Amino acid sequence: MNDIILDMDNMPKHLAIIMDGNGRWAKKQGKIRTFGHKFGVDTVKNIIKEVNALGIKYLTLYAFSTENWKRPKDEVNTLMNLVIEYLKKENDYLMAENVRMDFIGDITKLPKKTYENVKYTRELTRNNTGLNVNIALNYGGRDEIVMACKEIAKLVNADEIDIEDITEDSFSTKIYTNESPNVDLLIRTGGDIRISNFLLWQIAYSEFYFTDVLWPDFDRNELHKAIYSFQHKERRFGGLV
Ligand code: IPE
Ligand code: IPE
Ligand code: MG
Repeated sequence: MNDIILDMDNMPKHLAIIMDGNGRWAKKQGKIRTFGHKFGVDTVKNIIKEVNALGIKYLTLYAFSTENWKRPKDEVNTLMNLVIEYLKKENDYLMAENVRMDFIGDITKLPKKTYENVKYTRELTRNNTGLNVNIALNYGGRDEIVMACKEIAKLVNADEIDIEDITEDSFSTKIYTNESPNVDLLIRTGGDIRISNFLLWQIAYSEFYFTDVLWPDFDRNELHKAIYSFQHKERRFGGLV
């Protein structure tokens, strides 16, 4: 049943999602964790289609964190191979739908083949002007802030800028998401109420939506529920309404 009526004039400009719960979804069915990741990829495809249909301009998806390397080698390998498989299959769709796909995080540390496919899709879709999708791969919010600080320190060292030139706006140009606005709505599936090192800078004034639904079960209707909740919040940004 889908009787949720969304206000098409009040969509989040930038939606971010922590796609969590693949492993538990598989376990519930007596399957190994990687089985859940495979189904999770189908959800990624469906959600990108739906976000595109809703006219949202920016979507950022948390696919692999700087901490996820701690997982067993087999699981990490499966995830890295799934990225390759997904990108190879989706390039045509991305081009047909004018979707620009970018990647945030330290992608240079990805396995070579994954890195090459990531670079290929990024270049291929670079001039597309429709939906912007950022896939977070080897991404950590703290890592991103440290990376941006180093970039700024280099400029100060080289006398290219003064310390006084460092502002919230100039800092925002040094982070991975420098081409996307701040996040309006952050969704986390899988039942945990935490950030797990995602977009620390960008979520300063985001609305949050946490759901117990596991990522492979997250569908169009669940997305609509999250957006509906966003549309009924009063955003004050520290001011008064
Ligand atoms: C999210 O699902 C996907 C990644 C972190 C890559 P999980 O693999 O974390 O699944 P759970 O949380 O263990 O169920
Ligand atoms: C967050 O999920 C990372 C991604 C969804 C890629 P995790 O499963 O890694 O987070 P924790 O360990 O439960 O905090
Ligand atoms: Mg998890």
